[in-house]
Amino acid sequence: MTVKSIGVVGAGQMGNGIAHVMSLAGYDVVLNDISEDALKRALSLIEKNMDRQVSREKITQEERDQAVSRIVITRELPQVAKTDLIIEAATEQETIKQKIFDSLLPHLDDHTILTSNTSSISITRLASRTDRPEKFMGFHFMNPVPVMQLVELIRGIATDKPTYETCLAVVEKLGKTAASAEDFPAFIVNRILMPMINEAVYTLYEGVGNVNSIDQSMKLGANHPMGPLELADFIGLDTCLAIMNVLHDGLADTKYRPCPLLTKYVEAGWLGRKTQRGFYDYRGETPVPTR
Ligand code: CAA
Repeated sequence: MTVKSIGVVGAGQMGNGIAHVMSLAGYDVVLNDISEDALKRALSLIEKNMDRQVSREKITQEERDQAVSRIVITRELPQVAKTDLIIEAATEQETIKQKIFDSLLPHLDDHTILTSNTSSISITRLASRTDRPEKFMGFHFMNPVPVMQLVELIRGIATDKPTYETCLAVVEKLGKTAASAEDFPAFIVNRILMPMINEAVYTLYEGVGNVNSIDQSMKLGANHPMGPLELADFIGLDTCLAIMNVLHDGLADTKYRPCPLLTKYVEAGWLGRKTQRGFYDYRGETPVPTR
């Protein structure tokens, strides 16, 4: 099957990045969110990020203008249902994702492939509630989507070969690289990355280091582009906690228990950059450690 149009559900940091790269690759994009404000914010962020790419001569002004014109924003889910491939990129909560798929189902064309950008939830379980488990996959982008090279492609137990191959062709058209992962909790990237971030929070919780020394250690001592606490803020502490809970519940091993300090930050509503406070306070000129 040749994919021409892509539906993206959720216009948050992942959804807007996905719409950005898909439209630049030539796909018609229908971007959906329940909030009109979120849709407008997403579109203006896409334009800003593309303008930066034009100024750095990564794309031409014409490519930018054509890509932007290929994006339609809508609050109506049925409009998304008429695309060839749908990527759900809503909040990392299974009930929300299920509700979205439930609402899409009556409006879908037979050929439409359903995917989720979930970072950890079982693809097989999400797929089993739809009318097309064989046409359902995990399509997991990394943040920031326009910059990161990898997409994890996760097959559920029922996913068929043509669906996998269609998604692989889309990843290749984006100029990105696919890693094929089996459907076990948190797949590959987050199975490895999140326990490291969680361990960094334990290191902070136990007073082994402070925010600065922990981040500096991993940046300068392990050559990571961001320290683990800075990266946690970037990803969102609620997302980090949700992924640790999926690992803990799904693998039933205490080595995945979320650090109580991570839970405390989430309880405070200090979710990282998106709420302006997390392990750093972003309200001033430069980020200031909160511990
Ligand atoms: N959109 C588009 N372009 C962006 C961007 C965005 N949101 N953010 C940064 N860029 C571009 C910049 O324009 C810049 O482009 P040029 O090379 O053309 O100049 C380039 O990226 C580098 O950016 P900066 O110079 O501003 O900053 P940097 O060198 O510090 O890099 C970074 C920023 C790419 C984010 C880098 O710090 C990094 O790689 N961090 C780690 C990110 C990471 O690990 N992501 C994975 C998270 S895990 C995940 O996403 C999975 C999950 O499910 C939770």
